[in-house]
This record gives sequence, C-alpha cells and structure tokens, in this order.
Amino acid sequence: MQIVRNSEELARARAKLAGKVALVPTMGALHAGHMALVAEARKRADSVAASIFVNPAQFGEGEDFNRYPRREDKDIAMLEDAGCDLLWAPSVADIYPDGFSTRVSVAGVSERWEGEARPGHFDGVATVVAKLLLALRPDAALFGEKDFQQLAVIRRMVADLALAVEVVGAPTVREPDGLALSSRNAYLGPDERRRAVALPDALKAARNALGSGTPVATVVRQAKQALVDAGFLRIDYFALVDAATLEPLDEPRGEMRLIAAAIIGTTRLIDNLAV
Ligand code: PAJ
Repeated sequence: MQIVRNSEELARARAKLAGKVALVPTMGALHAGHMALVAEARKRADSVAASIFVNPAQFGEGEDFNRYPRREDKDIAMLEDAGCDLLWAPSVADIYPDGFSTRVSVAGVSERWEGEARPGHFDGVATVVAKLLLALRPDAALFGEKDFQQLAVIRRMVADLALAVEVVGAPTVREPDGLALSSRNAYLGPDERRRAVALPDALKAARNALGSGTPVATVVRQAKQALVDAGFLRIDYFALVDAATLEPLDEPRGEMRLIAAAIIGTTRLIDNLAV
C-alpha cells in the first residue's frame, strides 16, 4: 500500500491507479465497520484508496477533536491486510491552507437532528468530502449507514454539484450485543458500555412496535423512557423520519428510518435502523 501525505504526492499516485477507483473516507481509529467499507470497495473497484483525516472543521467548540483517537500504525496494518492500494493521510495545512475560505453547505437535509445538535458539523463534513472527492476523483465513494444523515447529506451534495462519483451506502456493523461499532465507543467505561446497548435495543423495540401498529408518538415516548431507564443522561433526538429527506414523520409512510442520538456518561452515541 502506498501512503501519501500531500496533494502533490496524491496527484502522482492517482495517475498510477489502474481501472475503476473506489475511495473510503475515514477519520482513522479503524474498526470492523470501516473495514466492511474497504471490503465493499474491493468488490466494486480495481483500485481501493482510503483517507485518514481527523477533520477539525466538523468538530464543534468543546467537542472531542483533541482527544479523538489517533492510531495510525494500527490503521495502516489493517488497511494493508485488507488489500487497500493507497492511503491518503493529509495534514490539516494540506487540506486547509492559509486563507482557505470556502464552505460547502447543504441546506434542508443538514438542518435537523445532528445539524441542530452540532451546528456547523455537516458544513465541515460536506466541505472536506467535496475536497477529497475532487482531489482523488474516484469512480465510487463508500459511506456507512451508521451515519445515516451524513450519507443523506453527501448524496444530496453529490447530486447537486453533479460530481461524477457513485455514492455507495453500506450497512452498519455491530458488536454481538447490537451496539454499532464506533471509534467513540473507546470512550465508554465498562458500566457505560453495558448500558449503551439500550440504544440499539430501543431502536429494535420501536421498529417492532411500529410494525404492530403502535402510534409513532407512543413509540417515541416509550423509546425515550427506555433510554432514560438505562441511564442515558440526555436524548438529543429519537425520531421516525423519511429516509431521503430526514423530515420527521407523524405516521409511517414510504421509505422510513428510525434515528437516535443520546448521551451516556460523557459519550454521545448515534444509531439508526431501517423500518
Ligand atoms: P468516520 O467516523 O471515521 O467514519 C468513516 C466511515 O465509516 C463513515 O462513512 C461511517 O459512516 C463509516 N462507519 C463508521 N462506523 C461504522 C459501522 N459501525 N458500520 C459501518 N460503517 C461505519 O464519518 C466520518 O469518519 C467523517 O465524517 C468523514 C466522512 C470521513 C468526513 O470527515
């Protein structure tokens, strides 16, 4: 696997990649969820590139940018094992050189939920993903359904800017007990880790309750109560939404998703489930 650290090296390496190219953008601290994206990329393309960049623009004031887990050696070994061809690990100065002033902002789908809880977050995501896609020009880019709203924001941006890339969403990889894998799970103490499973459990219970005709408002109330009972300190949202626009639904209709974000201890967890 070739490792490149700046735009000049990237441009040279890109020119040498053969055939169809797929990109897996990440912030590192790789786990089996990221590796499922790499495996899917391997199936879909002749050359696989991954990026590791802890993007300061998508972290808010007081968020975990400084303590976000960074373990590049282990990440490199995992990508090598998975048959990744190219790793792009740029510096902050390479992505955001002095004077950098452009921001990609996706209205509508960015505004609720994560957008409301984390102002500016999706501008940071959209801006960096646009830069990554424009610099590498992959044929496909893979993103996890774990970050369901992020995937919707990126699909909207790629469509609006007519970027010549296929956006591929991949299912969430979970621990045996159902907790979605996340780099942030490393923040959980043993007791919090045990309680955290209440989040996927509440999503499953909500899906089943909707399936048996329970009204949406009742389903949401019961799910929030279950999270409080399990020791979640704050629930940012638990909602049934339209899968494409992320608009909330009062009644089941069309393609739907249950989405949730809640805080246990000092760790903010997000998850979602198809309905
Ligand atoms: P990061 O959190 O490192 O995630 C990189 C990719 O892995 C994202 O597409 C995310 O949805 C996916 N992913 C994370 N956990 C997963 C799981 N349990 N199962 C399946 N896929 C999972 O998301 C980001 O980085 C950043 O916002 C980024 C898109 C790289 C822009 O900076």
